[in-house]
Amino acid sequence: MWGDRAGLLTARLVGAMLRPWHRRHATKGRDEAITDKPLTLITGATGGIGEAIALRLGRAGHTLLLTGRDETELQDIAARVRAEAPETAQTFSVAVDLQSQGAAALIDEICASQGFYVDVLINNAGLAEKAAFLNNDTQLIETVIDVNVTVLTRLMRHYLPAMVARGSGAVINMSSIGGLAPGPYQSVYYASKAYVTSITEAVAHEVRGRGVYVGAVLPGPTKSRFHARANGRGSYYLSFFGEMRADRVAATVERALYSRHWPLVEPGPFYALIGLAMRVIPGSLLTPLMGVLYKQRAGKPRL
Ligand SMILES: NC(=O)c1ccc[n+]([C@@H]2O[C@H](COP(=O)([O-])OP(=O)(O)OC[C@H]3O[C@@H](n4cnc5c(N)ncnc54)[C@H](OP(=O)(O)O)[C@@H]3O)[C@@H](O)[C@H]2O)c1
Repeated sequence: MWGDRAGLLTARLVGAMLRPWHRRHATKGRDEAITDKPLTLITGATGGIGEAIALRLGRAGHTLLLTGRDETELQDIAARVRAEAPETAQTFSVAVDLQSQGAAALIDEICASQGFYVDVLINNAGLAEKAAFLNNDTQLIETVIDVNVTVLTRLMRHYLPAMVARGSGAVINMSSIGGLAPGPYQSVYYASKAYVTSITEAVAHEVRGRGVYVGAVLPGPTKSRFHARANGRGSYYLSFFGEMRADRVAATVERALYSRHWPLVEPGPFYALIGLAMRVIPGSLLTPLMGVLYKQRAGKPRL
């Protein structure tokens, strides 16, 4: 709790110190008229990390548009944000399968009809496959790649140009600490998060100095429905690392939005160290180690 607060305070101070620098370097498109009001779009907000981000950013005063596929869950969470954050201007929700080609157009329609534009995109929706590569069905593998890679890229490509033209805004992509290494027994998921980390760092470099922050958050195992959905509850990595609270990831997102500097952000010093180790340990050692961590414990065979 105190760690979160101290981190947020530091991020705000660093953000305030760097703001003049960001402004000086953010000139292109500055004079484009902005008639609507800013809004934060959160994908995958039906529970877990997305829900925690909604509650946190709601309390911080963001106007929110929450997306996911379950309308009832979304409405419940929107109601909780309103109840916990009466100072928040408004919280909207829209149930949409982001794999559908018309998803961004639907989101735009809702924003325009309410007089808002997407100022902050939290690309959080994601899922993992349920089994080792040879045992997964092809359709699930394609869904993982579609949601984690294609949808995330499509949304970033859709909203980033207007942010750059306005010289303000932010994109946060939800990656994973596991994206820094190959992940045997969840190979497609970890490859997809390696993609998220890589594209975030590259695009952040491309838009540097243009007033827009592009960053990725790299959580370790976090309490949500994710592991049960991915059939991963029996893996060694959960016993080894434990699970952090979803709100800790949400606090990291909030910190990244305030400091707006580093493109890759881990939730706290422990995962920053793990991330550093994963970057320097050679693949010939790291892959077998990840294989042990991701294997199911005896008596809990992965499908
Ligand atoms: N939990 C962890 O240990 C962990 C660690 C590192 C990174 N992450 C990442 O954090 C993000 C959030 O995960 P979580 O832990 O909060 O898991 P979660 O509770 O399963 O949430 C995943 C969210 O993604 C949404 N989603 C999935 N497919 C979708 C689609 N086709 N269209 C629209 N929404 C879709 C889900 O909506 P529905 O409810 O409609 O399915 C849900 O809201 C993911 O990107 C995940 O990879 C999680």
